[in-house]
Amino acid sequence: MDISLEINGNHEELDVDPGVTLLDALRERLGVTGPKKGCDRGQCGACTVHVGGRPVLSCLTLAATVREPVTTVEGLSVEGEALHPVQQAFADCDALQCGFCTPGQVMSAVAAVEQDVDDVREFMSGNLCRCSAYPNIVAAIEQAAERTRSTADARV
Ligand code: FES
Repeated sequence: MDISLEINGNHEELDVDPGVTLLDALRERLGVTGPKKGCDRGQCGACTVHVGGRPVLSCLTLAATVREPVTTVEGLSVEGEALHPVQQAFADCDALQCGFCTPGQVMSAVAAVEQDVDDVREFMSGNLCRCSAYPNIVAAIEQAAERTRSTADARV
């Protein structure tokens, strides 16, 4: 079937099998390899992307059902090469080791910061890290949240 997707601001037309997941469409058809295929069954969070601004597991989402814009880790930077504040916080806090889980962690972390969640650990519980970088990931999210609040306060 013919589908159209908006990926990181780019309009894409694809001819796909109805059973193709968003993750496979991104990685195998469009060369968008930030989202990772970890478990491929919705248990690890490495494939997390945003659809319509909300984090979703792209391995459990059929490409043909996607109607809203998709953002992957490649599309987070808003100004050219500049890192998104959450990406910068991950770098500042050494919030990764092997890095395989990091694109998914970052996408969930962006949602955590945007929603100003109270319980970061609970919110992030769907994103597993086999290197156990959890303390630094939480520290990065807290840093990004704090900087986002400070920026918002400065604008008031
Ligand atoms: Fe290696 Fe998380 S940094 S799995």
